[in-house]
Amino acid sequence: MHKSATVAAIVAAVLLYGPPAPAADPPPKAALCAACHGEAAPSPYAGVPTIHGQPATALENALYDFRATIRPCRKPECSPGQSCPELDFCAIVRDLSDEEIAALAAWYASQPYAPLPQDWNPALAARGQALHAAHCESCHSGGGLSPDNQATILRGQPKSYLHVAIRDFRHDRRIAVAEMDAMIRELSEEDIAALVEFYARPVQ
Ligand code: HEC
Ligand code: HEC
Repeated sequence: MHKSATVAAIVAAVLLYGPPAPAADPPPKAALCAACHGEAAPSPYAGVPTIHGQPATALENALYDFRATIRPCRKPECSPGQSCPELDFCAIVRDLSDEEIAALAAWYASQPYAPLPQDWNPALAARGQALHAAHCESCHSGGGLSPDNQATILRGQPKSYLHVAIRDFRHDRRIAVAEMDAMIRELSEEDIAALVEFYARPVQ
């Protein structure tokens, strides 16, 4: 009777206030992910993207693609003096079940995003901002800072990760949505450098 009263109270609370907030506790495997992606945003390593606050669908797609080995999983890039995690990302993602992928994607998507402070070049960034507005903003909205449209947040991702990601799309190592695929292949090397500098520009 006590139990059913509790259940009734929870049902009433859900009806009154909508679905409960996402559980604060991370799924068990997130402890492994934290070694490379950090406990919170931003990512602590150059070649490792920030995954906290990214759209759930993009996170889920990425994990399925890594598991199916249709996207290259790499080692983190560690700066001199920074100790590198001794973990095999490819082996870790190969072991994830569909349920674990769904839980990890939902939990990371519920966490706050934070841009990585980096060096940036103002002249190139101004050019990059114009390119972004013309070609990328329709999906990567809010100047590349919004997780809407299921498009990954680009602003404040590590520069070297962005270079690798763009190269992967251009060299068929990663599958992009059709409209972006065409766009990203038309960019010159200078355009790419400019876009990356814009994404590295500090957020006011
Ligand atoms: C040994 C280090 C390491 C560990 C541990 C690790 N990752 Fe990664 N992860 C990386 C690297 C490096 C990349 C970038 C790969 C590339 O070059 O595209 C990455 C990329 C990703 C991406 C793609 C993000 C994007 O923006 O496309 C997701 C999602 C991800 N990891 C989730 C996880 C989850 C969830 C876990 C734990 C189950 C985990 N990772 C554990 C190193 C790691
Ligand atoms: C038609 C919508 C659309 C347009 C336009 C678009 N993108 Fe994307 N982009 C996406 C989506 C959706 C993803 C998430 C990838 C996934 O789920 O596979 C993405 C992912 C990316 C990633 C990978 C980020 C990561 O964390 O790995 C990069 C880099 C990127 N886009 C750059 C660009 C640039 C630069 C432009 C403009 C030249 C652009 N995109 C235009 C939809 C778009």
